[in-house]
Amino acid sequence: MKIAQEYADAINDQITLEYTASLVYRQLAVDMEAIDLSGIAKWFLAQAEEEVEHAQKFTQYLLDRDAHPVLKTIELSGSTVDNALDAFKASLAHEEKVSESIRNLYRVADKVGDIDSRPLLHWFLDEQVEEESTVSEIIGRIELLAGDGSGLLEIDKQLGSREEGED
Ligand code: FEO
Repeated sequence: MKIAQEYADAINDQITLEYTASLVYRQLAVDMEAIDLSGIAKWFLAQAEEEVEHAQKFTQYLLDRDAHPVLKTIELSGSTVDNALDAFKASLAHEEKVSESIRNLYRVADKVGDIDSRPLLHWFLDEQVEEESTVSEIIGRIELLAGDGSGLLEIDKQLGSREEGED
């Protein structure tokens, strides 16, 4: 079934948003390196790579459906953070934006009667639940520390042990 142009356009916007997310995470990695939290920086870099994979998954999907993916302008806020809690709060805010965007894709798919793409969207909906949950848990753990530096270094060490491709 040929993909509706309106839906292909929405997926193109999603591809741009996933690449934007990758750059948001790269900036957060730099922000964490700047305050010597290299484990957390490594975690954000792994996340940045995962966002590129998400963009590629949507890109390949459009190609498979005989549509032509088009990258659009990536807009970044230019803001930085100076502590781990704010970094993960920024991460959660961005993930919530991405989740809503995926839900919107689902709405467009329904509107144009595109049943074929449901497995793809279900994969992304599951992924977003997992990503928001992971980041929320990290925020909760950092908040529990209430400024305890040695506890933060322990979290930095744990997050720095994330392997490539691991959530
Ligand atoms: Fe691709 Fe973290 O959303």
